[in-house]
Amino acid sequence: MTDSPTFLRDLRVSYDLDALVESSAPADPLELFQLWIEDALAHDLPEPNAMTLATLGLDGAPSARTVLLKGLDERGFHFFTNYESRKGQEISANPHAALTFLWTQRHHQVGVRGTISKLPRQDAESYFNSRPLGHQLGAWVSEQSSVIPGREWLESRQAEMEARFGEGPIECPPFWGGYTLLPTEIEFWQGRVSRLHDRLRYRRVDSTWIMERLSP
Ligand SMILES: Cc1cc2nc3c(=O)[nH]c(=O)nc-3n(C[C@H](O)[C@H](O)[C@H](O)COP(=O)(O)O)c2cc1C
Repeated sequence: MTDSPTFLRDLRVSYDLDALVESSAPADPLELFQLWIEDALAHDLPEPNAMTLATLGLDGAPSARTVLLKGLDERGFHFFTNYESRKGQEISANPHAALTFLWTQRHHQVGVRGTISKLPRQDAESYFNSRPLGHQLGAWVSEQSSVIPGREWLESRQAEMEARFGEGPIECPPFWGGYTLLPTEIEFWQGRVSRLHDRLRYRRVDSTWIMERLSP
């Protein structure tokens, strides 16, 4: 790689779609989150439930990847994955984590901090059983995050699992399931003109949420 491509420094968007003000923000941040994700859905944004999940690596350095939000309730933000993956191992060692949602066409970002715990087996099985057969098989095929010799290895494991399960049903693997992140802090970012964005942060203190405005 030589010089940095010059187009990067000239890429910028003017944020002017909306405002986020204390007087109309709900007292419950989950209510606002729901409004924003429904807004993203209503505007046909691709994969509005995609979120960046940041965890703490076993070496103390952060790691991040995208996962899909598959549920939201009083237990928190739910996602499903392989418990033996890198993220799974990192969560076992340190349950503190962060999520970021970016709905760029709406000039919206949401950041969440909290602690992760496993969802009950029943949630994993119920979600797993709702997935297409190929996705279910994929969960058995992939030793997620481990180094593999090549694509062929994956394809031969797939053939092996196809032979094992046939037409199904395919049971939920014991190493696969759900997590939920229980939020302690949720920040809503609304892009505004001249980079003077609105940032409202909700912090959970005991059982109530405190709302504060942060400088952009
Ligand atoms: C849009 C998108 C959605 C994804 N959703 C999931 C998901 O819900 N669960 C999952 O385990 N991996 C998902 N992935 C793959 C992860 O980003 C990641 O590659 C994988 O989970 C391994 O991460 P790890 O090695 O850090 O554990 C998704 C990737 C993308 C790009």
